[in-house]
Amino acid sequence: MERLQSAPDIELHRAENGSLSRTELLQNIKGVDGILCTLNDRIDTEVLDQAGPQLKVVSTLSVGYDHIDTSELRKRGIALGITPGVLTDATADTAIILILGAARRIRENIHAVLNREWNNWSFASSLGTQLTDKTIGIVGLGRIGTAITRRLQPFIGLNGKVIYTGNSDKPVAKELGALRVDFETLLRESDVISVSCTLNEKTREMFNYEAFKKMKKSVIFVNTARGGIVQQDDLVRALSEGLIGSVGLDVTTPEPLDSDHPLLKFQNVLVLPHIGSATIETRTMMGNMSVDNVLAGVRELKLPSGLDL
Ligand code: DGY
Repeated sequence: MERLQSAPDIELHRAENGSLSRTELLQNIKGVDGILCTLNDRIDTEVLDQAGPQLKVVSTLSVGYDHIDTSELRKRGIALGITPGVLTDATADTAIILILGAARRIRENIHAVLNREWNNWSFASSLGTQLTDKTIGIVGLGRIGTAITRRLQPFIGLNGKVIYTGNSDKPVAKELGALRVDFETLLRESDVISVSCTLNEKTREMFNYEAFKKMKKSVIFVNTARGGIVQQDDLVRALSEGLIGSVGLDVTTPEPLDSDHPLLKFQNVLVLPHIGSATIETRTMMGNMSVDNVLAGVRELKLPSGLDL
């Protein structure tokens, strides 16, 4: 923010407490040349109309841009800046926390420690599962999916297997020893399913009841991408019918999730509050990138991390 404040050619209008409600956003946006937003801000026709025809750039503090109407930006010739690459490690780390946490029943075990339910060590209690020799299903082998795979390889060992789905064969798959399969095969064969694809009209709610029914009953299902990729009511149904082993989510619909949401009642569901990129290192890089993007945009220069619309 200091960089924006001190730029001589920039007049900064900023949210006082870090974020604006929709009404505040609409009230404050008139006449701006650039918008620096977060994934909480829906940038749609209403916002763009309200901003006015001088708007040159939207820079989002995220790599995901499903909250932005990209076809409207394209039509209006407005540039879009995102923050790719810098949050790969932090997000992949979060996926590993969720996968291992779900596999070893961390939620139940922490609950037991905190609630005086920690009994004497016993041979057959608190048993989770380990990843050795397991099949990992990666949905979206992009930057983050690749980083998750690399982190999981030492856990699954030489007899483990990695399969993935996606629109095309990924060159990195060969090096990872990952095999591209169709969605049904991935659902059927995976011991762990990790979702790292973008949310779009093809992937929206692709994990629905039919999909959950096809998974192994012991499956560990983890989503660090976007809540909208999962049909959440169907997930609740599948969990209540015992169709899924355990679940780890860093993203939900909505966010934040109500504290009495049915999903939070299952002991085998671990939910984090969308902290995938929440490290000091990553957020500093994301902040700098988004400022670089908005400054370039208002100055009518090429964005350093612009998306081809
Ligand atoms: C992103 O950048 O899209 C992430 O979800 C934020 O953590």
